[in-house]
Amino acid sequence: MDKLKLIEEINRLRKEKNAVILAHYYTIGEIQDIADFVGDSLALAQQAARSTADIIVMCGVHFMGETCKILCPQKKVLVPDLESGCSLADSCPADEFGKFVKAHPGYTVLSYVNTTAAVKYYTDIVVTSGNALKIVNSLPKDQKIIFAPDRNLGSYINAVTGRDMLLWDGACHVHEQFSTQAILKLKAEYPNAKVLVHPECKRPVVLLADKVGSTAVLLKYAVEDDCQEFIVATESGILHEMKQQAPNKTFIPVPPEATEGSVGCSCNECAYMRLNTLEKLYNCLKNEAPQIEVDPNIIERAKLPIDRMLELSK
Ligand code: 13P
Ligand code: SF4
Repeated sequence: MDKLKLIEEINRLRKEKNAVILAHYYTIGEIQDIADFVGDSLALAQQAARSTADIIVMCGVHFMGETCKILCPQKKVLVPDLESGCSLADSCPADEFGKFVKAHPGYTVLSYVNTTAAVKYYTDIVVTSGNALKIVNSLPKDQKIIFAPDRNLGSYINAVTGRDMLLWDGACHVHEQFSTQAILKLKAEYPNAKVLVHPECKRPVVLLADKVGSTAVLLKYAVEDDCQEFIVATESGILHEMKQQAPNKTFIPVPPEATEGSVGCSCNECAYMRLNTLEKLYNCLKNEAPQIEVDPNIIERAKLPIDRMLELSK
């Protein structure tokens, strides 16, 4: 089927089935263009929670589909490709995390939304890169905190708040491989450019930033700031929306560079996010599969920390 026909069919099916299509900023432009709503992890969770659709199609990665299912267990939650995992979520196996939590009584457990539903089962409050700072700051200064699984986001929050949260040793393979050398090289080429960095990047990279934040925060800053050029250290899918909202500005993605300790491919694209294609989106709407399923016992427990996050993010 050609692209125009695919779009026509997707539009017909979503109307017919009362389905809503949610997409993350890291998906390909064609998916972002057809989605009912495009956002960062926090906005996608908020959108799912208030959705009145019968079917939610999550064009993102698997844990985002799980979050939708936990928030809306009565709805069908579809993902275009069940293989759309996340290296960060994979870096925190639930059984090991459960033992870790048990070994640290008295700690409040904060988990990044980039975790499996089974990890959220052991969590007190879920956070995203968009609200982690606010949520940590809402806790008493002397509260002992476990922060999982992203050591980079955790170190960033420790540095900003002066806390000493106990960090799980996980990371995102896309953000870990941005290097200071690559950014400094671009800075020499574009001396007036401001540097936008996602907090999943390593500490030395974060220290070069003019703005640190979630994809939505970086987007807003890029659109509203007077600067005309931006060096962007996050997954390059975000450039699609940046260019749409600020067509006269220049956005320079930090190029891929394998760094010591990086895992998986050396790219600034998330291979998991890129599994979402128009064709798979059409097929999943047509077949109402693949569906996200979560054990009802896990849903019951994992919903609590997500609800707490949504409450604290108001
Ligand atoms: P945000 O959507 O919170 O910016 O996180 C980025 C990310 O890595 C999602 O997987
Ligand atoms: Fe996971 Fe990183 Fe991909 Fe986000 S960009 S989904 S954290 S692997």
